[in-house]
Amino acid sequence: MLPAFEWKGDRLLLIDQRLIPWEEKYLELKTLEDVAVSIEKMMVRGAPAIGCVAAYGVVLALKEGKSLDEAISRLSRTRPTAVNLFWALERMKRAGDDPERAEREARLIEKEDYEANLRMGELGSELIPQGVNVLTHCNAGALATSGYGTAVGVIRRAWEKGRVKNVFVDETRPYLQGARLTSWEFLKLGVPTILITDNMAGHFISRGEIGAIVVGADRIAGNGDVANKIGTYTLSVLAKEHGVPFYVAAPTSTLDLSLSSGDEIPIEERSKEEVLYINGRNIAPEEVDVRHPAFDVTPASNVTAIITERGIAYPPYKESLKKIMEGK
Ligand code: MRU
Repeated sequence: MLPAFEWKGDRLLLIDQRLIPWEEKYLELKTLEDVAVSIEKMMVRGAPAIGCVAAYGVVLALKEGKSLDEAISRLSRTRPTAVNLFWALERMKRAGDDPERAEREARLIEKEDYEANLRMGELGSELIPQGVNVLTHCNAGALATSGYGTAVGVIRRAWEKGRVKNVFVDETRPYLQGARLTSWEFLKLGVPTILITDNMAGHFISRGEIGAIVVGADRIAGNGDVANKIGTYTLSVLAKEHGVPFYVAAPTSTLDLSLSSGDEIPIEERSKEEVLYINGRNIAPEEVDVRHPAFDVTPASNVTAIITERGIAYPPYKESLKKIMEGK
């Protein structure tokens, strides 16, 4: 699997996710501004990957002679919802402004994320029933992390164990992370993949064709409410209606126990162009009003379990997530 990013000591190589699956092209990021823009324009996306890349952005800033405060302030303004960004910046702040120490911390953030993914894959795969189709939304794979993936990690590991028949991949309008990125990843892994448009999910779920749903997360509040890619909430309602288990796989860096509920999670609103255009091709009248929330909040009551690298949390999440964070 091609990595989303690779640190080269004086620069960060980043696969341009806007071009996948048509082109596999790496960009060279050399400055704080390069990194900030790559997050804003979604050349890199996915909560853990954003956190890792931002950490290297701080390293590049310090090597450019910029201050730690300037680096953190610029990167904090890129995307508001994924808490991994702020979590990583907090760690970088604690590491201080010595470039070598900062570099060690960024490498550690990346390594820990990779290990967390492997662990979530192992733990979460045991939740998947034998011989079912599994549905996922957006891209929570190697591209969205330092490698392996969260939700994709769970599904690929479950497939290796012979539990998964097919993975159903939601297209994920408007940015098409499912169609472009997740189906590309699963095909590379050799997992039998069926791509559907978002509005087909209810049809397959209602017919009993989906045995489990696994998604990632951008921020999880203390009560277990989950912010994830727009459309996740809709899927969770369908899952509940039809008795399909709905699992969220996310590292503890995605937990924000400072928030008591999902109402407090900032939801990013992106540009109307991303809705009006697909790959540069206009699909609706230019003058129509558009809303584009990039994420929605799934209430904890719709979530069967939350898979983290430190263990699986079950309802009531207020207690179980706290225990996980305290290492109990
Ligand atoms: O807007 P994106 O593509 O950054 O949104 C990504 C998601 O919603 C993912 O599901 C989430 O970040 C988990 S990635 C392991």
